[in-house]
Amino acid sequence: MDKIIIQGGYRLKGEVDVSGSKNAVLPIMAAALLSEEESVITNVPSLWDVHTMVKILRSLGAKAILENGCLKAKPGKNLKPLAPYKLVKTMRASVCVLGPLLARLGEAEVSLPGGCAIGPRPIDLHLKGLEALNAEINIEHGYVKIKAKKKLRGAEIYLGGGYGSSVLATDNVMMAATLAQGRTVIENAACEPEVVDLARFLRKMGAKITGEGSPRIEIEGVRRLHGAEHQVIPDRIEAGTFLYAAAITGGDVLVRKMEPSHLNAVIDKLHQAGVRVDKFKNSARVRKNGRLKPVEITTLPYPAFPTDLQAQAMALATVTPGISVITEKIYPNRFMHVPELGRMGAKVFLEGPSAIVHGVKKLSGAPVMASDLRASAALVLAGLVAQGATEVQRVYHLDRGYENLEQKLTSLGAVIRREKE
Ligand code: EPZ
Repeated sequence: MDKIIIQGGYRLKGEVDVSGSKNAVLPIMAAALLSEEESVITNVPSLWDVHTMVKILRSLGAKAILENGCLKAKPGKNLKPLAPYKLVKTMRASVCVLGPLLARLGEAEVSLPGGCAIGPRPIDLHLKGLEALNAEINIEHGYVKIKAKKKLRGAEIYLGGGYGSSVLATDNVMMAATLAQGRTVIENAACEPEVVDLARFLRKMGAKITGEGSPRIEIEGVRRLHGAEHQVIPDRIEAGTFLYAAAITGGDVLVRKMEPSHLNAVIDKLHQAGVRVDKFKNSARVRKNGRLKPVEITTLPYPAFPTDLQAQAMALATVTPGISVITEKIYPNRFMHVPELGRMGAKVFLEGPSAIVHGVKKLSGAPVMASDLRASAALVLAGLVAQGATEVQRVYHLDRGYENLEQKLTSLGAVIRREKE
């Protein structure tokens, strides 16, 4: 397993380009299965999870070639309904092949996604929505088997449960509904930009969808969909990670190829933290603007502060004078980064879903362990500002969601290198 070594104390300066969105491209790759024809998807980031999804598409019988950020996916006529456990267990997002396979083949079999470091990852909302479209579900031997009773039929579905909205459940139901007979209404749909990007791709394939980006999405089923070309939106979480990297080092960075409007809640919190952020059409410039100030953050579904930037915001809070409070409402135990930040001298106290962060003058570099994708990013950010060297182990977590992170940080003046273990 590789590790990353960071020499702290260098302010980041310069310009960095954001890659395509992991959380947009994964469901879009699954959506390509809805047509026999070839789809061409561009601005595809070279990430571990993307390569896993390519393998899943191939294991289902589709042709899939990813070269220089361009994915050509041709599902053809002979798709198989079974997604293999050995691939699905490594990536929760694999669950989003359920909807397209059910719609295309009338059946699907996907192993239940296990839990992961950030908590149990149930799929009850996915199953509730697909069942409402006239499918029957059996869970056997760790697999979810789903079959359409004759034909999928549109329905009015409230996609809520003990929890708010669900991004991939919204994606699954929306994709399946594109080929169902009649009209489907999804109430309590997720509003994330990645859901909007998926809807735009489906519409290019010939789907009839309105309301994406709002809690109510309407889909009019059609008989078939054709291939389409689509450029994936920028990764707002990678962009936000660079905003926090510039802020924590007191640097001056222009983050390019991003959509500032996807990060309004995050930029608002950075302003409150005393960081200067200037927004432009497809970029944002982050600069130190005097002393950092403590903030209160609560993670909630879009457009509120995203859970995927919670750990990065905490890294900044650990070196912000005063007391910050960060409350995680999406995944209550998404605090695996707290003990590791503690090893670097951070003072963070957990109270249920909240982390009370007492800012310290300095973090000290230390060997730390990555546990999940965004926690790893937070440890890298802390390493950028810590005294001495920080060694982040198990960086395969980072490779799942960040393309060329060390190279991009090095181009901004960070002293960071990867060592193969
Ligand atoms: C997507 O996961 C993202 N992943 C996650 O990003 C992100 O953290 C999450 O949305 C929330 O924004 C992808 O898009 C590939 P959810 P998803 O269903 O769709 C509960 C990253 O770091 N829930 O919106 O799986 C669930 O337990 C990853 O890039 C149910 O109870 O998340 C959680 O508490 C991490 N039942 C909440 O809803 C369900 O059927 C939100 O989960 C589904 C979800």
